[in-house]
Amino acid sequence: MFKLSDEGLKKVQEELKRYESKNSAIIPALYIAQKENGGWISEEIIGYLSEVMGLPASKINEVFKFYTMFNQKPVGQYHVQFCNNISCVLNGSREVASEVLNKMHTKINDISLDGKYCFSFVECLGSCGTAPMMQINDEYYENLTAEKAVEIIKGLK
Ligand code: FES
Repeated sequence: MFKLSDEGLKKVQEELKRYESKNSAIIPALYIAQKENGGWISEEIIGYLSEVMGLPASKINEVFKFYTMFNQKPVGQYHVQFCNNISCVLNGSREVASEVLNKMHTKINDISLDGKYCFSFVECLGSCGTAPMMQINDEYYENLTAEKAVEIIKGLK
């Protein structure tokens, strides 16, 4: 059964005190829970947060399902997100993604057999001036070429 660490729970409680409305603490609480759960959020976690935050699960679910930065299924140790929006696409992000997937012998949205990688397409990540780019967990990698992206991903330990 999922429970936040003492530190995670403390952070959620601090977020609840920070805002006038408890609803404003939903995004930070989901971030904290996702980080502690290896990168994704289950229905059980939504129920848990509902109890801890004193909010209806439906309210938390609304936020959770709206934002793509919250993952609804396991994403492996490294979640590689290729930006699939206009600046990145015009600058070759699909070619970058295609080369990476070929070299890693996997498909978009699959987790590699060793559980280490998951690749997905996402909308604009707010770094259009340095397109094409990708995000791996919390880090941005910009001005990519296919070779550079493969090298970065293969270099992950
Ligand atoms: S289009 Fe890729 S970061 Fe904006």
